Amino acid sequence: MFTNTKDTPIPFEIVNQVIDEMKLASVGKASIREIKRLVDNIEKASGISFIRMEMGVPGLKPAQVGVEAEVEALQRGVAAIYPEIDGLPHLKLEIARFVKLFLDTEVSPESCIPTVGSMQGSFAIFMTLSRLNKERDTTLFIDPGFPVHKMQHKVLGLKFESFDVYNYRGEKLREKLESYFKQGNIHSVLYSNPNNPSWICFTDDELKTIGELANKYNIIVLEDLAYFGMDFRKDYSKPGVPPFQPTVSKYTDNYILMISSSKAFSYAGQRIGMMVISDKLFSSKYEDLLLYYNSDIFGRAMVFGTIYCLSSGTAHSAQYALAAILKSCNEGEFNFVRDVREYGEKAHIMKELFTSNGFIIVYDKDIDQPIADGFYFTIAYPGLSGEALLEELIYYGISAIALSITGSEHAEGLRACVSLVPRTQFPEMEIRLRKFHQDHPIQ
Ligand SMILES: Cc1ncc(COP(=O)(O)O)c(C=O)c1O
Repeated sequence: MFTNTKDTPIPFEIVNQVIDEMKLASVGKASIREIKRLVDNIEKASGISFIRMEMGVPGLKPAQVGVEAEVEALQRGVAAIYPEIDGLPHLKLEIARFVKLFLDTEVSPESCIPTVGSMQGSFAIFMTLSRLNKERDTTLFIDPGFPVHKMQHKVLGLKFESFDVYNYRGEKLREKLESYFKQGNIHSVLYSNPNNPSWICFTDDELKTIGELANKYNIIVLEDLAYFGMDFRKDYSKPGVPPFQPTVSKYTDNYILMISSSKAFSYAGQRIGMMVISDKLFSSKYEDLLLYYNSDIFGRAMVFGTIYCLSSGTAHSAQYALAAILKSCNEGEFNFVRDVREYGEKAHIMKELFTSNGFIIVYDKDIDQPIADGFYFTIAYPGLSGEALLEELIYYGISAIALSITGSEHAEGLRACVSLVPRTQFPEMEIRLRKFHQDHPIQ
């Protein structure tokens, strides 16, 4: 505890008491869900609302077209019927259309599979990929990244390696990736784009490098598009019209895309996402799969092996919702990007509030361009480590997560998520940040 004043926006004693009661080894090292619980408890004990930036939850209403389709499907009685394991045919068709219209990538409906959130998609992918080839047992993460993917590896007992991409942008990425791929133990490489937590967006040149190396070393690229279309510097909102959301699928056939519905369509609660496997990979044969599955064909093993075992498919009604949402996007009726643009506009104002009170943006550039305004941004405060900063900010009624839990080597920073901070809280946020700045003079 570093705070040198007891006159903090959230009473000092209350914060200390709740921290003690929760018996957290360290506030700074706490997981996202632990921070959430801590803040819930402090809010309850103090009666004062926090500026909540710890969790990446959508802050908007769910896509209405999805809600209506889902209600209608439930009324028709779909809840009583098992859905197809690999998804409703008309949903698979709309996913393939969406991929064509918004990524300019051709894929057949067979290779498009709904999953129980992108979270289940990644779990199923890690499980299956680790069994493709006895010689290759390791995933490579391009960090910083989503901590739960690493947790999934730990739960499954799988190996991973990782590096922070901060110092390896542009051409430097090639050599760095190649140093791992050459080892011979890597089966796949995963990154999110835009990146959670840093909001880095890979350029087309970088994606080309990743694709070329994937071809050269036969590595499968796992492209996590949880924040699809949300690099607001470009307008990716028009179906079939460039520019398209950048993707590695332009440069390799060795890919699996994970497209979450949670943020793009504010549909997190229904736990539905999309796994899109390239047609070539879907039909590829791997002898070692027969040790675990009835088929050596990748797509079959994934669907009738892994996904069948995990959940026998995805909730029936949510599939109707997603099909309706995608159809509406594909036909240019629902502009999903326009709805989520609010996150970028809020980020712009919130970053300004932080930087005018002594904070700096940690991941501040996409090679030579300023980082985009989006769902997350990263902050640091001179003289404080990330963990100390997180602990300090709690007394000022501001919550975030430490970058150290995301694989970032810039551990002096925090990730801030804009979604749950309403604009009406901005004046209070400014007051608290000003007080923090006053109480923590920069040397
Ligand atoms: C990078 C990334 N991948 C995957 C997910 C999980 O998405 P879903 O809600 O579809 O399971 C998230 C959610 O926050 C995320 O940020």
